[in-house]
Amino acid sequence: MGINHIAIIMDGNGRWAQQRNRPRTFGHQAGVKSVRQVIEGSVKAGVSHLTLFAFSSENWNRPEEEVSRLMDLFVKSIDKETPELNAKGVQLNFIGDLSQFSDVLQHKMRQARANRPVQTRMTLNIAVNYGGQWDIVQAARSAAVQMLSDGLSPSDLDQKWYQQHLCLSDQPPVDVLIRTGGEHRISNFLLWQSAYAEIFFEDILWPDFDQAALQSVIERFAHRERRFGQTSEQVNA
Ligand code: IPE
Ligand code: IPE
Ligand code: MG
Repeated sequence: MGINHIAIIMDGNGRWAQQRNRPRTFGHQAGVKSVRQVIEGSVKAGVSHLTLFAFSSENWNRPEEEVSRLMDLFVKSIDKETPELNAKGVQLNFIGDLSQFSDVLQHKMRQARANRPVQTRMTLNIAVNYGGQWDIVQAARSAAVQMLSDGLSPSDLDQKWYQQHLCLSDQPPVDVLIRTGGEHRISNFLLWQSAYAEIFFEDILWPDFDQAALQSVIERFAHRERRFGQTSEQVNA
């Protein structure tokens, strides 16, 4: 069974740094290496879509210093990584409410998105200032606007039509949802898009996650039985 879409909640940077008596930001920096590893590993595994949770809509509530260091890290990483990613056939995309970011960062994100590889092997979505609840509300707003302009009534609204207004509507649903760092929660990530994802809560902290750790998840996924509401007998018929 192939995997079209992997989504990852990259958690545990702060604890990784604290274990080393270093500031939390040191952990965020170390996490960039793991991002490279999962991109590499996903491309190798033939995964066509990878979505990484880099900054949640709730992460603004962190100390100002940490937020500002994270923003610097985003700017630097986009500058440094985009050309190499494009050369590898990775198309970058950003999802979330980008309007809250500085003009410089917004510009860089748009530019990175506009750079298209010659041949796309994988789409990489970076979720920044993203929240699953925000996504559902922005989709509702966009759907309402279209309903008014097209003269549609509430009874015309169905799941398939509504879904077109959500982030990643042009991409396959999440098959594998990974959260590192040992917490067993979704933290407002892709709520709609993960409706039938196989979930993997991994104890490993994000800066320690590498290609082997990804491969281990992919192997365990192969042993899961996805039933989509059916019985096991039906699935195996
Ligand atoms: C995840 O790691 C990275 C971001 C939320 C930006 P954390 O910073 O949440 O690390 P822990 O959970 O405190 O260890
Ligand atoms: C989730 O991690 C967000 C990202 C990984 C970007 P958090 O560390 O912010 O999640 P909570 O607050 O512990 O649920
Ligand atoms: Mg955390």
